[in-house]
Amino acid sequence: MRTAMEARAAVFLLFTVFSFSVLAQNVQNNKGRWKLLKRSIGISAMHMALLPNDRVITFDRTDFGPSNITLPGGRCRKDSRDEALKKDCYAHSVEFNPANRNVRPLTVLTDTWCSSGALSKDGVLVQSGGYNDGERSVRFFKPCGDCDWEENPNGLVSRRWYASNQILPNGKIIVVGGSMQFSYEFIPKSMKSDYTEYQLPFLKETKDPVDNNLYPFLHLSTDGNLFIFANKRAILLDYVKNRVIKNYPEMPGGVSRNHPSTGSSVLLPLRLMSTGKTPDAEVFICGGAPSDSNNKTKLGIYVPASKTCGRLIITAANPKWEMEEMPMNRVMGDMILLPTEEVLIINGAAKGTAGWGASRGPVLNPVLYRPNAPRSFQVMNPSMIPRLYHSTAHLIPDGRILVGGSNPNINYNFTVPYPTELSLESFSPPYLSSGKSRPKISWVKPGTEIAYNQKFSLGFELKGKKDIKKICVTMSAPTFTTHSFSMNQRLLVLAVQGMRRISGESYAVDVYAPATNFLAPPGYYLLFVVHGGVPSRGSWVRIN
Ligand SMILES: *[C@@H]1O[C@H](CO)[C@@H](O)[C@H](O)[C@H]1NC(C)=O
Ligand SMILES: *[C@@H]1O[C@H](CO)[C@@H](O)[C@H](O)[C@H]1NC(C)=O
Ligand SMILES: *[C@@H]1O[C@H](CO)[C@@H](O)[C@H](O)[C@H]1NC(C)=O
Repeated sequence: MRTAMEARAAVFLLFTVFSFSVLAQNVQNNKGRWKLLKRSIGISAMHMALLPNDRVITFDRTDFGPSNITLPGGRCRKDSRDEALKKDCYAHSVEFNPANRNVRPLTVLTDTWCSSGALSKDGVLVQSGGYNDGERSVRFFKPCGDCDWEENPNGLVSRRWYASNQILPNGKIIVVGGSMQFSYEFIPKSMKSDYTEYQLPFLKETKDPVDNNLYPFLHLSTDGNLFIFANKRAILLDYVKNRVIKNYPEMPGGVSRNHPSTGSSVLLPLRLMSTGKTPDAEVFICGGAPSDSNNKTKLGIYVPASKTCGRLIITAANPKWEMEEMPMNRVMGDMILLPTEEVLIINGAAKGTAGWGASRGPVLNPVLYRPNAPRSFQVMNPSMIPRLYHSTAHLIPDGRILVGGSNPNINYNFTVPYPTELSLESFSPPYLSSGKSRPKISWVKPGTEIAYNQKFSLGFELKGKKDIKKICVTMSAPTFTTHSFSMNQRLLVLAVQGMRRISGESYAVDVYAPATNFLAPPGYYLLFVVHGGVPSRGSWVRIN
């Protein structure tokens, strides 16, 4: 009897030890999951933006021949300036609904190739520039059931091809640079000063013979000024007075970081304080390529991309770069701020640069970077699909990363070594398969329209927890992503005032909205409740 009990106890103990070690291994082996969402959306997702109705707008370029999806109702676009099809019955932009994977073809009239954009404070996607007949266009896309693009072909003062945009505290959008444009301007145009083009010699100074300064990295600092990084160095710009107020030290590593030596950049999560004290702003830049890499690809030489990353506290009195190394070399990696304050580095190649046929060695494994101590880089599970030039990635409200595009070759060539990629995949970070319960936001009070510095409450459900220790509430700005840079990306960690259990598995947390429009430009944000490293689904709020 006793021995039988002992045996059972021993078996139970063994089983427990075994299942704990399986659990521990699961956590350690949890390297995220890939899923093919759609083999073809009909176009190659060169540009990607998320709208407050949870739809994703993507587009390619209009003048490279047929896509794999036609315009509805037998519609065609007539364009005498199109370089491939004067009469074009194909769509070059689509709306994708991640919830049911529906694809809706959209009509762009002027060429959107290598353009830029931002979501306005009213939730309208404002998108600018491109090539040929689209180089001065400003296009608008309202989120609604059957909306389509509206265009103003003269919406920009200067042609902007490979420019970057950032939404500003006053709700205007600044458009910086572009090929052979050493200036900036503001959109949409409403007042007289919007029709001025402001010169910015920094963009000329950072230009190599092969550029290496296009799609400059823009980040709105917490003092309201604009951080601009191009090639190897950065400035802080007072765009109102058109004055450079700070020149930062050159980034170590000797490599170029902007197109075509494309690296990527994020403003690390801003931890807001209940006192309203302004937090420091820190920029994190990863990857890139030696300055002459693009030239060498023309000789068939594909130089290894950079492994280095740099962190710079841009609000410090004496800012200094702090260098780190990724587990692998990467050019054309996208950097995505996750709702959990981690940074995902995804897509790209190990050798060469951006450009058609200019890279080799697709890097299929994303890397998860934890920016807070203890810092770490963790290699994630690989995708099966190379995502090289003109690929994109975007955080969607359910916490996954939507991944698309690559090599939209002329005529959508599928028979070359790196064929045109029309698929969309999702990458689920480890937090979506951790086995821990996921918070679920149930209400926001007094409502989803939030004022600066306002105290507001969030209700959420959390299964199976009795004692909740640490809750984070984060707020993520939807981005406009292209060429490995997510414009307007921003993650705010809200100051928590208190938390309470309401009943059973229902809780409420009281937080402060960002104190100023310097910390959070007006507009839509996704609100996440994070518990034990696991985020809820995002819930839209609008700050104004
Ligand atoms: C795109 O269309 C071409 C030509 O019709 C076809 O050969 C190809 O398989 C299609 N590709 C995809 C991914 O649907
Ligand atoms: C790249 O080639 C161009 C001419 O094609 C030359 O002017 C330039 O100096 C080269 N750049 C580098 C960094 O080698
Ligand atoms: C695709 O590229 C190959 C190799 O350059 C070429 O022979 C073929 O004609 C191209 N196909 C299309 C549809 O342009």
